[in-house]
Amino acid sequence: MERKLLIAGNWKLNKTIREALELVTLLKRSIRETQTVEVVVCPPFTALSETAETLLESGIQVGAQDIFWEEKGAFTGEVSATLIKEAGAAFVIIGHSERRQYFHETDETVNKKTKAALKNCLTPIVCVGETLAEREADKTFLVITAQLKGGFANFSADEMKKVVVAYEPVWAIGTGKVATPAQAEEAHAFIRKELSKAFGSDVAGTLRILYGGSVKPENTSELMSQPDIDGALVGGASLEAPGFTEIVRNAALGRRPIEEL
Ligand code: PGA
Repeated sequence: MERKLLIAGNWKLNKTIREALELVTLLKRSIRETQTVEVVVCPPFTALSETAETLLESGIQVGAQDIFWEEKGAFTGEVSATLIKEAGAAFVIIGHSERRQYFHETDETVNKKTKAALKNCLTPIVCVGETLAEREADKTFLVITAQLKGGFANFSADEMKKVVVAYEPVWAIGTGKVATPAQAEEAHAFIRKELSKAFGSDVAGTLRILYGGSVKPENTSELMSQPDIDGALVGGASLEAPGFTEIVRNAALGRRPIEEL
């Protein structure tokens, strides 16, 4: 079953509108692989609209870094799926570990946000992953299972088909400590097996699972050559055009044709 590679840049709290436009203007020129690799950039809310406009017809898509689950109303400071869609987003990152850690997001809020994204035809990129303490206590698989169960509670197989999962071990995010390809593959294969049990092998076989955590040009192809790794969620290395371009290129080179896996 063909799973198209997906490389998403998570800019986090970086880039003014001007800086965002400078970056995507460069990416538009330098990224050549959008036929074989789906490429997404996720700027802060303020730069969404202009970034999306600049990227029209470039083959590079745009995502937001979060949404609230309600459509509208008295929710000061929040942004809905409808609003980011209007601004040009096709994707949205949900439940990133920084949101879980600093903004008290739970599997329940992840569940509501993911439902809201799907209702508005956005592709949610739902993040799961264990902390260092959890890994050292041998709880990695327990933690991931709970995040999947809670995050996707009451989801139908049809809904799940439209979801992208990102495995991001918290200890690898922004630390320079990348998971080894074997460690990442082990977690990805586990996630796929769990999703297969819950939603069937059809869904698990087509759903994409991205790896995130200190992805750089030098480690991309080896990670992408693992059978259950279908792309990357890139933080720090997505902020400069040459590095992000090289990650997309190396991903395309690293990915073996599915029939060889
Ligand atoms: P990093 O971040 O690539 O800077 O480690 C990844 C992420 O948080 O999505």
